[in-house]
Amino acid sequence: VSRHPLRVGLVGVGLMGGDHAERLAQRTAGVTLVAVADPDVGRATALADRLDAVVHDDPLSLIASPDVDAVVIASPGFVHEEQVAACLQHRKPTLCEKPLTMDDDSSLRLVEAEARLGRRLVTVGFMRRFDPEYVAVKEALVSGVYGRLLLLHHVHRNRAVPNAEFHSEMIVRDSLVHEVDASRFLFGQEVVEVTVLAPAPTSHAGPGVLDPQVAILRMAGGGLVTTEVFVNSRVGYEVRFEAVAECGSLTAGLASSGVLATRATPEGGVWGGLVPEDYRSRFARAYDLEVQAWADAARAGHAVGPSAWDGYAATAVSTAGMESLRSGGNAVAVTLPERPRLYPEDH
Ligand SMILES: NC(=O)c1ccc[n+]([C@@H]2O[C@H](COP(=O)([O-])OP(=O)(O)OC[C@H]3O[C@@H](n4cnc5c(N)ncnc54)[C@H](O)[C@@H]3O)[C@@H](O)[C@H]2O)c1
Repeated sequence: VSRHPLRVGLVGVGLMGGDHAERLAQRTAGVTLVAVADPDVGRATALADRLDAVVHDDPLSLIASPDVDAVVIASPGFVHEEQVAACLQHRKPTLCEKPLTMDDDSSLRLVEAEARLGRRLVTVGFMRRFDPEYVAVKEALVSGVYGRLLLLHHVHRNRAVPNAEFHSEMIVRDSLVHEVDASRFLFGQEVVEVTVLAPAPTSHAGPGVLDPQVAILRMAGGGLVTTEVFVNSRVGYEVRFEAVAECGSLTAGLASSGVLATRATPEGGVWGGLVPEDYRSRFARAYDLEVQAWADAARAGHAVGPSAWDGYAATAVSTAGMESLRSGGNAVAVTLPERPRLYPEDH
């Protein structure tokens, strides 16, 4: 492990990038946040001044900078290909927020570029693989005590979506993609078929938006996954799942811990816990563990967590899921090319 702190540059300082900036500057050991880049220069400058980093107008100049050892990418998905490719070109470890890219071809190009280098440099920000409950379920399944995994049932709800342009297909590409990765992780298998169905939508969705949706994934070993994704639930951020195996089941993410509150309402007193506002509080611990593990690995010269292959596979399933949704609920097969040797089978 290098004796020097890892000098990290951050590309994109919106909601997720702003959250990562605080984490990198204040809660990650062995790291210095040295630079930020965002076309919103005012936002970047305000953040950089507060956290004592320099601002680059151009994200590619940040990535190329000799003062930056490793890069966290939290820009919108449509610019990830160019930025991850630049990190590969400069041999810089990168933690790229999901989705790796917006379509299969561009994700596969990154996989091929990294495989040509023969060295893993890319980690994709599927932070649930670092969430202590997801990890505990994975370990319990691997232990064999529960027998073979048969089914997963996921629930993924947001209080509301950030903007009116959040259309039906984005629910698949931006939200469901987390369950796609979590299912590949928990089963240790690829998804071979996806079906996305939609009931009559909630009146709280935008015009023409199909919300909620139910996705059914068929895994390579014959297991099934159901996922409800509901992005205008009005309540808060709720993410939980149940894994059903041959000799028992495991449930994670229940709102059973935390603060129990009582509150006066016009209808009388109510009791219960609070639902997290959004992913930043619900998965705060997972993001902290993700970024720390990524930084530790980068300093030691290797990579951890979801790989470019995992990012590509998730994108391929999302693409098929969007096709299924458009078709009104046909099952769509997912076929992946041969997996390069750089990415070991047991993700
Ligand atoms: N892992 C998670 O749970 C999670 C949660 C939310 C968002 N995300 C991902 O994080 C990324 C950012 O999402 P967000 O919600 O923060 O979006 P956002 O719109 O809040 O922020 C995006 C930022 O990127 C900047 N930007 C635009 N073009 C850029 C470019 N070419 N280079 C650098 N910066 C650029 C914008 O000015 C903005 O500041 C997306 O890939 C999203 O899917 C992941």
